[in-house]
Amino acid sequence: MVNLAAFASGRGSNFSAILTYLEERSLPAHYAVLVSDRAQPACAEIALAKGIPFLHLNPKTFASPDEYAARLLRELESYGVEWITLAGYLKMIPALVVQRYAGHILNIHPALLPLFGGPGMYGEHVHKAVIESGMKVSGATVHLVDEVYDHGAIVLQETVPVHFEDTPETLAHRVLEVEHRIYPRAVELAVLGKIRIHGRRVEILP
Ligand code: GRF
Repeated sequence: MVNLAAFASGRGSNFSAILTYLEERSLPAHYAVLVSDRAQPACAEIALAKGIPFLHLNPKTFASPDEYAARLLRELESYGVEWITLAGYLKMIPALVVQRYAGHILNIHPALLPLFGGPGMYGEHVHKAVIESGMKVSGATVHLVDEVYDHGAIVLQETVPVHFEDTPETLAHRVLEVEHRIYPRAVELAVLGKIRIHGRRVEILP
């Protein structure tokens, strides 16, 4: 069994989609812990219902970023975590954690990276920027996490059309359906050892 950690700040629909996928396919992986910077996010209810431990760690309550990172690493170690999945986690992952879990942290972004990523590009802001750009396609990206926001190597992407009538809400809804399809698939590839990194390019092994 591969032990996973989820980091989430909000509703957790991606976390939920991955959980369902792992269960339905009887994949050799399970969530050992859900970590959040918030005390009572909606995603904690999902964890509770599945008996997954919930850990509230607010970076602001630590004396320094290094103390926060050290605590996170101790917790992840204690749960035997091999892969971290970020799912709507709104805080930066400390560099020490990124280094320790290099190539073993996945994130989902609701646009086609490397476009429409980086600081401030989250939630509705992303879809608003896509619509205003005039682009006819958007989509979702699952990528490995490095020390630069929304920058790591791309694992999976899928596109959706952008319609003239779209609002950030309607586009977000269309993109979310794709997120729920490709994120579980990327986690499956990760736990089955089918992701091979070549610099910025990712090879998906058969
Ligand atoms: C998703 O749109 C994801 O792409 C982004 O944050 C949102 C999280 O949604 N990183 P949910 O909490 O998984 O429902």
